[in-house]
Amino acid sequence: MAGPLDQQKVRLDMRVTCTVNDKEQVADGVWEGESLLYLLRERMGLPGSKNACEQGECGSCTVYLDDLPTCACLVAAGQVQGRRIRTVEGLADGEQLDPIQEAFVECGAIQCGFCTPGLVVQAHDLVERVDNPSDADIREALAGNLCRCTGYEKILDAVRLAASRKAESL
Ligand code: FES
Ligand code: FES
Repeated sequence: MAGPLDQQKVRLDMRVTCTVNDKEQVADGVWEGESLLYLLRERMGLPGSKNACEQGECGSCTVYLDDLPTCACLVAAGQVQGRRIRTVEGLADGEQLDPIQEAFVECGAIQCGFCTPGLVVQAHDLVERVDNPSDADIREALAGNLCRCTGYEKILDAVRLAASRKAESL
């Protein structure tokens, strides 16, 4: 026989506090099934990270979570309590785009743009970590990011350009 708890929907809403793009953010009423991607887009006004598959397959939602590129759709919002997140919005310095963003624009590595924020975050991580990445390094780093439009060549060009500029500046 169904008890009172079976007959009513029980929700455990939470408060989540985290640092997003160097700013402390607090979200109340977070549902336990909510993703980090939803938290960022719908509660924190950061729609840069895109929701394309919501299954960890496309990489469009990639953000840094404690400095590691992560699919935001696969992380429960409650898991980011006290943690640091950096989204594509946090790469630019005010009006000044990050070099990887500039390279994407200059190389025309964007068509519909849906994959772009995730690719930019992933490519940013590669260029930060690896000096003079080979084409194999670039392809491996971006293997989890799907683009339906560009054929990838211009995206590879953009990463090569950003990496070569970084090498020149060292
Ligand atoms: S929306 Fe997260 S991997 Fe596709
Ligand atoms: S530019 Fe359209 S999905 Fe990549």
